[in-house]
Amino acid sequence: MFEVVKTQGRARRGVFTCAHGTAQTPVFMNVGTQGAIKGAVSAHDLKDVGCQIELSNTYHLHLRPGDGVVKEMGGLHKFMDWDGPILTDSGGFQVFSLSGLRKITEEGVTFASHIDGRRVFMGPEESMRIQSNLGSDIAMAFDECVANPSTREYVKPSCERTLRWLERCKAEHDRLNSLPDTVNPDQMLFGINQGGIYPDLRVWHMQEIAKIDCDGYAIGGLAVGEPTQTMYDIIDAVEPHMPKDKPRYLMGVGTPSNIIEAVARGVDFFDCVMPARNARHGKLYTWEGTLNIKNEKYKTDPIPIDPTCTCPACQSFSRAYLRHLFAAGEMLAMRLAVLHNLHFYNELMVRIRAALDEGTFEEFRRTYSGKLDAPIG
Ligand code: GUN
Ligand code: ZN
Repeated sequence: MFEVVKTQGRARRGVFTCAHGTAQTPVFMNVGTQGAIKGAVSAHDLKDVGCQIELSNTYHLHLRPGDGVVKEMGGLHKFMDWDGPILTDSGGFQVFSLSGLRKITEEGVTFASHIDGRRVFMGPEESMRIQSNLGSDIAMAFDECVANPSTREYVKPSCERTLRWLERCKAEHDRLNSLPDTVNPDQMLFGINQGGIYPDLRVWHMQEIAKIDCDGYAIGGLAVGEPTQTMYDIIDAVEPHMPKDKPRYLMGVGTPSNIIEAVARGVDFFDCVMPARNARHGKLYTWEGTLNIKNEKYKTDPIPIDPTCTCPACQSFSRAYLRHLFAAGEMLAMRLAVLHNLHFYNELMVRIRAALDEGTFEEFRRTYSGKLDAPIG
């Protein structure tokens, strides 16, 4: 269930409810690709950093440990001990970005596993069955994410096929939800818009997938090589054709500024590996901009990463200590840095929602869009 409780321009403040609870939107989903967050962070830690929805991947969990194992263990919620909402991505992106040699046909994709090179087939039905076994709250449709720019000659038949795949996903998803031993019979299905950088294909595709009754709609195939302005232009073109009463999810995006700009364009859900990945490289977010904690200038800096931050790292540790942990190659460096950046992203969404509640989102946007991605003063 999804309810828009307030709007400012095209920006929406909403409440999303699923079998495992409620999320306030706009929301950032924390990415735990294979049932953990890279950097020794568990689902319990996710609670401490304000995570509302956890995101895992069909592709990874199917290859290892296998979705049959996860189902036998009672589903992904029980397996990783996270009782909140979970969204699983369909594999449609990871197959194209991670696996080796692949062959796409109308049926689906045959690819080489990134773990051991063995050949695996995944199509719409397989993706739905795997996500059903995982028991996530939101299953994503199986799609082809094409890199930008790809030619119109490639993109047009590809997004037509992704539409036919959505019809097959919907039929299989309905069937699986009604089976007696389904892990999560209330699992939702989100459709995914594709169409490369071609506004007319994007709009046509969005209009077509909106005719298929999904619980939400995502924009995929962005932040995959196109300039930032092109991404905003595509959102501007597609958004008027997205159902108003369903959640909208911009997949794999992005920087704090990208998120603020997409919220302004009517997007409700986000996910990105960027905060965790940047953290592992020592790039940390603050409300004054980013800093690289490995820098010499933090050698004896006694203050926390961000003095206004309430994350587990900033509660107890100095920049100097964190810099030392990075220099010494201690695993704790990664963990504290990841906790801070994830907390920052979740706090960004808290402040976006507060600005929407108070009707001050445009001021918030002017103050922070651009600033948060740039190195500190
Ligand atoms: N994650 C980021 N982009 C995409 C996309 O286009 N499709 C899917 N399935 N996942 C994504
Ligand atoms: Zn912090």
